Amino acid sequence: MAGPPIDELHFAQEPSVDGDVPGPNSRRLLETQEAIDSSAVAYPNNIPLGFDEGKGATLKDVDGNVFLDFFAGIGVYNVGHANPYVNEAVHEQLDKLTHSVDFPTEPRLALIEKLDEIAPGDLQGNNRVVFGGPTGSDAVEASIKLAKYNTGGNGLVAFRNAYHGATSGAMSLTSNKKFKQPYAPLLPDVVHAPFPHPFQEGRSPEESVDRALEEVQSIVEDPYGGLADPAGIFVEPIQGEGGVVVPPEGFLQGLRDVADDNDLPLVFDEIQVGMGRTGEWWGGEHYDVTPDVMTMAKALGGNGLPLSGTLYREDLDTWGPGDHAGTYRGHATAMIGGVRAIEYIQAHDLLDHATEVGDYIRSRLREAAEDDPGLGDVRGKGLFVGAEFVDEDGEPDEDRVSAIQEYCYQHGVLVWTAGQHSNVVRLLPPLVLTQRQAEVGTEIIADAVAATAREHARH
Ligand SMILES: Cc1ncc(COP(=O)(O)O)c(C=O)c1O
Repeated sequence: MAGPPIDELHFAQEPSVDGDVPGPNSRRLLETQEAIDSSAVAYPNNIPLGFDEGKGATLKDVDGNVFLDFFAGIGVYNVGHANPYVNEAVHEQLDKLTHSVDFPTEPRLALIEKLDEIAPGDLQGNNRVVFGGPTGSDAVEASIKLAKYNTGGNGLVAFRNAYHGATSGAMSLTSNKKFKQPYAPLLPDVVHAPFPHPFQEGRSPEESVDRALEEVQSIVEDPYGGLADPAGIFVEPIQGEGGVVVPPEGFLQGLRDVADDNDLPLVFDEIQVGMGRTGEWWGGEHYDVTPDVMTMAKALGGNGLPLSGTLYREDLDTWGPGDHAGTYRGHATAMIGGVRAIEYIQAHDLLDHATEVGDYIRSRLREAAEDDPGLGDVRGKGLFVGAEFVDEDGEPDEDRVSAIQEYCYQHGVLVWTAGQHSNVVRLLPPLVLTQRQAEVGTEIIADAVAATAREHARH
């Protein structure tokens, strides 16, 4: 067996929070951080804690409080914090060789082979992987370059509500105007089509898919569609930052058809939903749709080590030596971390486990929604869960989500938010979360939902 069973990975099966949080040591770190760190720091504004140590699906803060981690370093720790099976190989590699640009190393080649083994559909046995910079945005940049290089085009089709990263090309694909506005102009020819979101649109899944696909088709095919020279279609198979938006059946297949009809690469951004997060290795597999190119990062480096990559169909491998580059394209330590993480997921059947535990969490939250019209929609796949909140008028209820997040960390569960209006509670715990931890954690979230509903009624 590869490493210990998931039950043995954690500090505990239940959280333990002693008194008020943040405790004194967290407060001291937060004060120092505020004095010396960048004003761009954001996460502690929502969860004001300083962390000391992680194990499995649990995190210990600097005051010794133990939390259930339904946040996982924003979707990075799929095999849990400090997974011993991963760390054993990482420690060994760290002492031998950390970085090797793109000279061959055993970890590099092992990871490429492992990714081929788990590649979706007909990409299996028919792909190449390029490594560039270490973060997800770098992989998105690589996918844009690859699409332009192979098609000779420059227009990019992306989607409303999308998030693809913080570098200029990736930001061009991202839809949030506030995020981009100070840096415009970015890439000039990017058009954002609607991403089907039946709950928000108040349409049936079919109508919402039809509307989105009609738009994509006219952007690409209509002589008056506006995009002169398309190079590719870029989409998250399930939107993450946008609010855990699971597109209805037919959408990704429709994109596949438009891409095929127009000889365009279809690019899936699997950075947040890949590496087993949704109970399949890749988000697109839920729909049996295989992209031509896919981006990977976050959980790819195994245990929080930064590593990103772009996997693409072999015939798109037209670059010459050095046509895509980056100093850190040979992070052997992260690469062996990735190999071990994939092996751990395989050996412990974590895809099925993620499906079962995720279904449990969703069904418990749907129960909580039965007498709470404010909890408008519970959705997701595997251990990727979104719960969208609306007020009495059906408008996004960001305040309630913020109150739920606060209640949760005060009671020992770390949850995150998503959605254009931050009105979605987003859960993305490690895949090693035990059923017991899921029950305890979801009960606390359900309590938070109930407590905030009562408060809303009082005001
Ligand atoms: C779908 C998606 N693409 C790209 C990125 C950017 O990755 P990174 O923040 O590692 O640059 C993210 C980050 O959250 C993401 O969720």
